[in-house]
Amino acid sequence: MDKYVIKGGNPLVGEVEIGGAKNAALAILTAAIMTDEPVTVDNIPDVSDINVLLEAISVIGATVERIDRHTARINGVTIGSVSVDYAYIKKIRASYYLLGALLGKYKRAEVPLPGGCNIGSRPIDQHLKGFRALGATVEIKNGNIVTSAERLHGAHIFMDMVSVGATINIMMAAALAEGNTIIENAAREPHVVDVANFLNCMGANIKGAGTDVIRIRGVQQLHRTSYTIVPDMIEAGTYMFAAAATKGDVLIKEIIPKHLEAMTAKLQEIGCEVEEFDDAIRVCAKTRLGKTQVKTLPYPGFPTDMQPQMSVVLSLANGTSIVTESIFENRFKYADELMRMGANVKIEGNTAIIDGVSQLTGARISAPDLRAGAALVIAGLAAEGITVVDDIVYIQRGYEDFAGKLRNLGAEIEQVREEREIMKFRLRVG
Ligand code: EPZ
Repeated sequence: MDKYVIKGGNPLVGEVEIGGAKNAALAILTAAIMTDEPVTVDNIPDVSDINVLLEAISVIGATVERIDRHTARINGVTIGSVSVDYAYIKKIRASYYLLGALLGKYKRAEVPLPGGCNIGSRPIDQHLKGFRALGATVEIKNGNIVTSAERLHGAHIFMDMVSVGATINIMMAAALAEGNTIIENAAREPHVVDVANFLNCMGANIKGAGTDVIRIRGVQQLHRTSYTIVPDMIEAGTYMFAAAATKGDVLIKEIIPKHLEAMTAKLQEIGCEVEEFDDAIRVCAKTRLGKTQVKTLPYPGFPTDMQPQMSVVLSLANGTSIVTESIFENRFKYADELMRMGANVKIEGNTAIIDGVSQLTGARISAPDLRAGAALVIAGLAAEGITVVDDIVYIQRGYEDFAGKLRNLGAEIEQVREEREIMKFRLRVG
């Protein structure tokens, strides 16, 4: 398994360009099959989750053409099956977006029930509740979700909790239902808005995305379009927090500052200088940062996908901080690894109590999941000495060229496979 080997201590300095949002691209590339005409999507991040999803789409028969690393052209006219193979849902949960897309277009779909993952059980009851409200029958048979409908009709759907995935999945199915659908208590994330904008570019009629009430007027069919994915606010946030943790000075480019407001506010509160430009943001941290309290919330609150990165920054802060995870039930698995680097973190239920220390020291650690893995790399960049991060396959699911972008900011980091490469790195960096 590949690893990152890092020599910590270098402040990150310079500029980094952010790619397209993984979580918007996963939904948009799936929704692209809802028309029988060609759809071109660009600013796609070149990460493994995207590549797996494009494979899943081509396996059911869609024509998928990779124009370049960041552009794909999809045509759903050649789809021959509405049944998705377990191998794909096992690799990426977001394959469940094929439920909404196939049900909307063909009025039937069969997708394996996604299991839990490293951060929690992650049920999909709200997705299924929405499909049933639109008139579909939904059953679980042999581990698969089997759903079909004579016709889909509009409905007034109240989500029991804010769910990004359920909001998007229901929006896709409702786009081709007969009549009007209202989704109350809808998720407001920028990538929900991006999916709604994309569907509207294909001829859907969706209003209110970005608020907690989304109104969808069903249309007969969708048509060709070309679309550019919104910048990835979590990739951007990860570099913002890496700058803060390493007392660096980084300009993060190709972003939408408004999407980063919750993260900007927290960094300013603990003592970072943050300067906003039209499509860039500069994070500078010259002194030791202060403590704070953070609770993860649905957008526009502080994002759960930035919780591990926040905890790493606070593990070096002056004072005791509290981090509360309100979205997922098992998202502190990085804490043990961080404590092996000298952090002082106590987990009580869904809360982390973090006594900041003045220095972390390098250690051999493992990435427990995508965002925790990125956070542990940040810890290695800030730590004194050498850190080896194992299981970086998790990190590569959502960060394009992570080590390369960090090296361009002055980090001493390499991706290696063999132990002898780690020895060579140690000899080289001294
Ligand atoms: C999306 O997951 C993202 N993944 C996650 O990012 C992100 O952490 C999450 O939204 C929250 O922002 C993708 O977009 C592919 P939810 P999703 O439905 O849609 C519960 C990353 O690192 N729930 O908003 O699965 C659920 O268990 C990933 O890129 C139900 O109970 O998240 C969770 O506690 C990690 N029933 C809460 O709601 C349901 O039917 C929010 O989940 C659906 C969700």
